[in-house]
Amino acid sequence: MRTETPIATRLEDYRPSDYLIETVALDVALHPTATRVRAEIRLRPNPDGRAGAPLVLDGDDLTLTDLRLDGTPLAADAYTVTPSTLTLTHPPAGAFTLTIETEIDPTANTKLMGLYRSNGVYCTQCEADGFRRITYFLDRPDVMAVYRTRIEADQTEAPVLLGNGNPMEAGEAGPGRHYAIWHDPHPKPAYLFALVGGRLDHVQRDFTTSEGRRVTLAVYVEPGKAARADYALEAVARAMAWDETVFGRAYDLDVFNVVAVSDFNMGAMENKGLNIFNDRYVLASPETATDADYAAIEAIIAHEYFHNWTGNRITCRDWFQLCLKEGLTVFRDQEFSSDMRSRAVHRIGEVRTLRARQFPEDAGPLAHPVRPRQYAEINNFYTATVYEKGAEIVRMLRTLLGAQTFRAGMDRYFADNDGRAATVEDFLAAFAVASGRDLDAFARWYERPGTPRVAVQGAYDADARSYRLTFRQSLPGAPDSPPLTIPVSLGLVGSDGPLAVVCDRVRDGVFVLERASDTLTFTDVATPPVPSLFRGFSAPVRIEMDMADADRLVLLRHDSDPFNRWQASQSVAMRLLVQGTRSGVLPKEAAEAFAAALAAFLDGEALADPAFAALVLALPSEADVANEIGAEIDPDAIHRARHDLRRTLGAILAEHFQHLRDALADAPGTPFSPDAASAGRRALRNAALELLAATDPDGATAQAEAQMAGATTMTDRLAALAVLAQRPGPARENALARFAETYRTEPLVLDKWLAIQATIPEAGTPERIRHLQAHPTFSMTNPNRVRALIGSFSMGNPTQFNRADGAGYRLVAETVLALDRTNPQVAARMLTAFGSWRMLESGRRDVARSTLLEIRAAPGLSRDVGDILGRTLA
Ligand code: ARG
Ligand code: ZN
Repeated sequence: MRTETPIATRLEDYRPSDYLIETVALDVALHPTATRVRAEIRLRPNPDGRAGAPLVLDGDDLTLTDLRLDGTPLAADAYTVTPSTLTLTHPPAGAFTLTIETEIDPTANTKLMGLYRSNGVYCTQCEADGFRRITYFLDRPDVMAVYRTRIEADQTEAPVLLGNGNPMEAGEAGPGRHYAIWHDPHPKPAYLFALVGGRLDHVQRDFTTSEGRRVTLAVYVEPGKAARADYALEAVARAMAWDETVFGRAYDLDVFNVVAVSDFNMGAMENKGLNIFNDRYVLASPETATDADYAAIEAIIAHEYFHNWTGNRITCRDWFQLCLKEGLTVFRDQEFSSDMRSRAVHRIGEVRTLRARQFPEDAGPLAHPVRPRQYAEINNFYTATVYEKGAEIVRMLRTLLGAQTFRAGMDRYFADNDGRAATVEDFLAAFAVASGRDLDAFARWYERPGTPRVAVQGAYDADARSYRLTFRQSLPGAPDSPPLTIPVSLGLVGSDGPLAVVCDRVRDGVFVLERASDTLTFTDVATPPVPSLFRGFSAPVRIEMDMADADRLVLLRHDSDPFNRWQASQSVAMRLLVQGTRSGVLPKEAAEAFAAALAAFLDGEALADPAFAALVLALPSEADVANEIGAEIDPDAIHRARHDLRRTLGAILAEHFQHLRDALADAPGTPFSPDAASAGRRALRNAALELLAATDPDGATAQAEAQMAGATTMTDRLAALAVLAQRPGPARENALARFAETYRTEPLVLDKWLAIQATIPEAGTPERIRHLQAHPTFSMTNPNRVRALIGSFSMGNPTQFNRADGAGYRLVAETVLALDRTNPQVAARMLTAFGSWRMLESGRRDVARSTLLEIRAAPGLSRDVGDILGRTLA
């Protein structure tokens, strides 16, 4: 359906379904263009619904071929069908069975919602509302049913047939056909339904749960790629064991299957017992996957697995509660990764993502509360705010309550809500009971959009040997909103190290800011201290505090909190970059002082924790600087300032960087390991190369060429290619051409090649991208290709995307319009790149606005794109 005027769905309008569904028996006969679905649905009136109400089932893109009520064909005047509904005007007063036959075309399904084919493999994606593209149904998460699925297919086209739950039976079904029956005993909403049919290889292993259940874990991939599935398979086992130990949650079926497909709108999907993944988050080998890929695979495998409890066993009452499962599950996967890797390094990564993606969203026209109150298109609310800020809220809860009480609250939540479709209120109630605390004020975090600001002032009184810290919180644009509950994890640091904290309002290192403003007094402070605030980034806020660079560098040197050590170096770099952007010249002395502090830091400990050192060396990105400045942005000025700082640091620290590269080189024959320690060495080696390139382009080019030639990992090869790509000339073009030739049969590797070229900050890049759109590897129907080329450009190339002549905007607008005809969900996602247009300087702002208006003038826009467009322009 095209050109729909968005009608908002509102949280306040929620009411229970008038009918419930107890069981669903599906019979799906797979066919490339004419798949037949017979659904036998056992319904009954909901005692909490309206008695005698018509039964309105959802449907989308379905051809109804037969409809029976308790076995008898329904008279034509007993029901009505519209493009989005099937209505029984007078359903029976008691329980009844509907048998619905529909025909669907998986090959024509380019939206990748419902049943579709990816490289010939049949697969499904039903969240949020794709099940209605398979059969007519009460497609809402609070309607939970037990499913039995019979899948039938051509023996050679789809030798592997997978469904939710446990396998029950399988066999032949006529000449050349076969079938499999799956049964899922756990009631679930339709969005967790899945099936897969295709030619797939797999790897498997056993896992015995803490409850003694023997589970077969398996990962299915395209033929020939099984060797690349081992890492994901082991990650499943690690996630299962971790959830038992840390949250007391065991798995509840006999099999757990993961399937990788190449066309997928999002990252992955937690369908009960049958997780379906974008293949880039499954397939890994040292030759094709970077360290970042390995980490992402481990995290997303865990994320989807953890949904089994937070999402599936306890699901959401309605889509407004999306953060109930997503924020909580992101928190859980972050904790898992922190335990598997380096907690400090992981936390820095989390906060970098939050600031790069969520803060700008929260500061722009697409801002919304973690629990939105209305939506026109729910698929546009799978956002950084719901996921990442949602996870920060859960983390704050733990900080406020302490780890033990937090765990007791989680236990309570599981006990009280297992098998239910729950709300954010249910979640908070569990913690209120477990802690005996009133969490009503805390609940405001779910309701208020925008990033809170906390302004802090310190004052030392030498005579009284006391130190006062005054905190003032505010929410931009909402001066009258009541204060939030903000946990401030803090400490004091002196010139030789951490100081003892004497202040009765700080418990276990945490002060809870509950008022609009508040003052702490620390006693027994012998010398002026440097405050270390929001340790571990204890709340998702912007901190405003005037602090001298020298004091920040004290934190870099002496703070006991690794996050704030990193933050200190970032803050100093940020101040240099902002000043450099504003005035056009980098403050020389301050930059040199920063370089000197970095030198001391690198000498002291870079080799002891290379991963951390690599993060300290990673300067704030151009987008970070833009977000910090916040208004009248000139991306070119930011680019110049950042380049100047890199050149200054590179020049002063060249010997340090070269020394690090030599010291961190792998001894010949060192076996590959994707673990955090090995990844950290590679990260620091490559960070050093990147900074060397800013001062010594010739030397860095030679080193990068040698590194590409000798690399044994994709991480090293790609880092070298990225360095080469920054410098125009034959070295770059040769390296790119050779890389493309080497990986011509590896689409996921070519995605990296596309992304590197899309982020070249040169005037020729839009032209290069148009050229790449014609390259055999590129395809507008594969979301990974589109994200790699167009998404990387719009999100990772600020000077070219925001070109004053509008060429960057035009390129993205064309992609959005072309894509909207086939895949509105991904088109809408690409359009969110315009979300920060209002903070640009006026010339670019006008160009961005007119581009958005041109998109709006196009006929037949999808609801997905229309919704983003409407809010972006509002
Ligand atoms: N629930 C999935 C996750 O693990 C995301 C699926 C979203 N899909 C969509 N079409 N909106 O995060
Ligand atoms: Zn999720």
